[in-house]
Amino acid sequence: MKKQSYLKTMVCSFLLLFCSYSIYGKDVNKELIRIETNNTTLLYIVENGNVNNYYFGAKLKNPEDYLNYTGDPQGALFPAFAGKSAIEAPVSVIHSNGVLSTEFIYVGHSSKAIDSNVSITTIVLKDKVFDFYATLFFKAFKNEDIIETWVDYKNDESGLVTLKNFASAYIPVKSDKYFLTKFHGSWFGEMKMEEEQLTHGISTIQSIQGVRTSHNFNPSFIVSLNQPASEDCGEVIGGSLAWSGSWKMTFENDIESRLNIVAGINNYASEWPLKNGEEFQGCHFIFTYSNAGTGQMTRNFHSWVRKYAIQDGNELRPVVLNSWEGNFFDFDESKIIKMIKDGAKMGIEMFVLDDGWFGGNKYQRDNDGMALGDWDVNKKRFPNGLGKVIEEAKKNKIKFGIWVEPEMVNRQSEVYEAHPDWVLKEPGREQYTERNNYVLDLTNPEVVNFVFESVSKVIRQNPYISYIKMDCNSPIYNPYAPYLDKNSQQQLWYLYTKNLYSVLDSLVKTFPDITFQVCSSGGGRVDYGSLPYFHEFWASDNTDALQRVFIQNGTSYFYPSIAMGAHVAKVPNGITQRITPLKYRFDVAMSGRFGIELLPADLTPDELTFAKAAVQTYKDIRPIVQLGNLYRLLSPYQGCLASLMYVNDAKSKAVAFVYQTQRMFGDFYPNIKPKGLDPLKKYKVTEINVLPEQAKKFTTEESVFGGDFLMKNGLPCVYWGKQGPLSINLMGEFASAVFLIEEMP
Ligand code: GLA
Repeated sequence: MKKQSYLKTMVCSFLLLFCSYSIYGKDVNKELIRIETNNTTLLYIVENGNVNNYYFGAKLKNPEDYLNYTGDPQGALFPAFAGKSAIEAPVSVIHSNGVLSTEFIYVGHSSKAIDSNVSITTIVLKDKVFDFYATLFFKAFKNEDIIETWVDYKNDESGLVTLKNFASAYIPVKSDKYFLTKFHGSWFGEMKMEEEQLTHGISTIQSIQGVRTSHNFNPSFIVSLNQPASEDCGEVIGGSLAWSGSWKMTFENDIESRLNIVAGINNYASEWPLKNGEEFQGCHFIFTYSNAGTGQMTRNFHSWVRKYAIQDGNELRPVVLNSWEGNFFDFDESKIIKMIKDGAKMGIEMFVLDDGWFGGNKYQRDNDGMALGDWDVNKKRFPNGLGKVIEEAKKNKIKFGIWVEPEMVNRQSEVYEAHPDWVLKEPGREQYTERNNYVLDLTNPEVVNFVFESVSKVIRQNPYISYIKMDCNSPIYNPYAPYLDKNSQQQLWYLYTKNLYSVLDSLVKTFPDITFQVCSSGGGRVDYGSLPYFHEFWASDNTDALQRVFIQNGTSYFYPSIAMGAHVAKVPNGITQRITPLKYRFDVAMSGRFGIELLPADLTPDELTFAKAAVQTYKDIRPIVQLGNLYRLLSPYQGCLASLMYVNDAKSKAVAFVYQTQRMFGDFYPNIKPKGLDPLKKYKVTEINVLPEQAKKFTTEESVFGGDFLMKNGLPCVYWGKQGPLSINLMGEFASAVFLIEEMP
């Protein structure tokens, strides 16, 4: 906001304050600020020069009643650190004269509709004494019941202000009890769910890894009010940060038993100096409220992501064959050509050549210790360049994609040898690496340009490329940017992420026809900050189908299936050594953005026949899986089965998946009860993706049920003895089933 408009708003608001008067301490000039979606209300009241939060929850019919309400607010709009602070505030600064406290007062607010679905409310706060401003933005998405919020800080003081803490969101909640669900994990074990009751004090989840957002914790949470979160009932608030750098969220159950949720960029080693006239924009925070449990919360997030926070969210994704797990670094031109040919026979639509295809003149990418950063073709593996493999893809009408990791280089690379000052490196210290990677100094504009040019060059040299897998295999272990002066090092974290976003933005704008996948040692950068620049993410390097059931379940709470790369890999799994049946692996991968990550040549003829049919089956159900609404039926954490389903908007087609997660004789298998159908419609239920030897079921007239019956009674599972005609076959270890539910005319 320009200084002039700040002044205008201030003058108006002070006039307003002057005109208001108090009767027995009651402010008669209270003003409501309503932020509303179809089913929720977030309510603030301007009173006595302050803005307070009175309500966030199911839509209020008469918010005006709050004007007569004499109870306490839930909290302030945005508390700052002050001498009388009782909670850890979202913002704390050192003012230009050294004063540590900030007292915000109301300056003004405005609301405007962006279109028929989206509106934005802006509330300006100013310190009572100092010319320091915080402008809060609330973007409400009506149909999706989503609110996106962020804060701009502005220094109009005469000297330097130091931002010590600069969060983006503060949500106070009042309830009897609070339960926090966290999504923790690491490489090979992302998105594990854990729920705890929040007793008094502060719980924190965070990342301090700089470039990797979601190994440790995903920047997302669920707070359930009064009772533990459940899928279909109860009040929950879900939130997620749109930031791909270090972040922090705190949940403080305070002395008045109110929960104070604070979310934003991590201030860890990250003080930010704000000179006179400068602004600082925090990251965006996305949140929703549901009084119908976590299922509705998820559907709110998914429809918002598909419409507003991902590339081409309504376009179906191709079936991918990725070269990594089938070959690792052991491949050459002829092996890749064979893979493409074999993949084509299975029906794949996109071949992705993963790590190992590049190198310069001096180093070739034979292993992960060399050539990263030298983005020319590896002449040892591809003496003819990529021409021949691309020709093969074209011949087979398959699209072609390629792997890059442009933010990092190896020590053994021509680019590092030419520019040793381009990497993050602490003077005087040993250089710590993960996977032999040096992270580039993205505070340096020359390096930012190099990152953009690296990817552009690969695409320009091979115009047939239509998919880029963009990896990032190391956290920031050496936090010192040679480009910045020694007093500015704390700015590294913020600048890195901002400059990364500017590269990503240029890439998607320059190459609008390319499909981009975000990857970071698997699911290390799965967040709402990176997603807008990508079409999808690689959910995990863990392709063990059993563990994937858990990883994909956790991921599903915030991220839709259209974006979740899920591939069938070989067995025994490289790390877990587990052997799961091919059908189980297909059934698990088919509930996401499906792909294959093994050598088709390793399959037996029978397996190949099954795989080919399964790929076709996926193509048939793809619109339901990728664009449908998700209903989780059974959690893998709660028994020996996991189940989920997708239903199209018209409730005319659905597909359900059931996975056995453990097999113990005597374990109880509940009926699988579909959700989200129309109770008044008749549906035909057909088991699909069946093995040839499986008995055929659900194909007779008896397989027609009313939606009401299906949802209330469900379908029985059989895991031993004789299988009935209407049951779901879950016999044997790692049994699984997929069934299609179609409306009968
Ligand atoms: C990371 C990715 C993998 C693969 C390898 C290649 O680990 O997550 O999918 O691309 O890098 O080195």
